[in-house]
Amino acid sequence: MEKAKKISVLFVCLGNICRSPAAQAVFQALVDRQGLTSSFIVDSAGTYGGHAGQLADPRMRRAAAARGYRLTHHARQVTRHDLHSFDLIAGMDSANLRTLRAMATREQAGKIIDLGRFIAHHPGHTVVPDPYYGNERDFELALDLIEDACAQLLSTIVSSPNIINKSL
Ligand code: 4NP
Repeated sequence: MEKAKKISVLFVCLGNICRSPAAQAVFQALVDRQGLTSSFIVDSAGTYGGHAGQLADPRMRRAAAARGYRLTHHARQVTRHDLHSFDLIAGMDSANLRTLRAMATREQAGKIIDLGRFIAHHPGHTVVPDPYYGNERDFELALDLIEDACAQLLSTIVSSPNIINKSL
């Protein structure tokens, strides 16, 4: 029997120390909870490489830990190879999406999705805003939006796996 190909999802923010490592951990937890661990590869990266090698920001690690997520990812900058190798690349805000689209070939552009479009239960919120210069409440809001959007994204992938390689 042919082995099913894993679905690979890369979450991208600016620094890869606040939003995208949180989204990686949240999405991975949802995947694990649904018994889909062996069907997914989940990773994260930043459009800016200035924090490469660092663990997530302690404020995000603390806020995520309070919700049961352990952030162990070390920051890295997104590469052109990521755009080739991942099935879906989810940006957190319009600046992230602009940078990703500028790096992508025409075919790769179809893999780039706006995570904010999956926010379903927070009226008025269409992006995951950057909490880096904010306070504790901004980190909580980012996590609320990430949990909401990641749940919708996973259920969309599970119910229509044909979205892979198509524009969302
Ligand atoms: P992130 O947050 O993009 O969610 O990881 C930021 C982290 C670092 C910086 C900006 C945003 N920075 O300017 O260094």
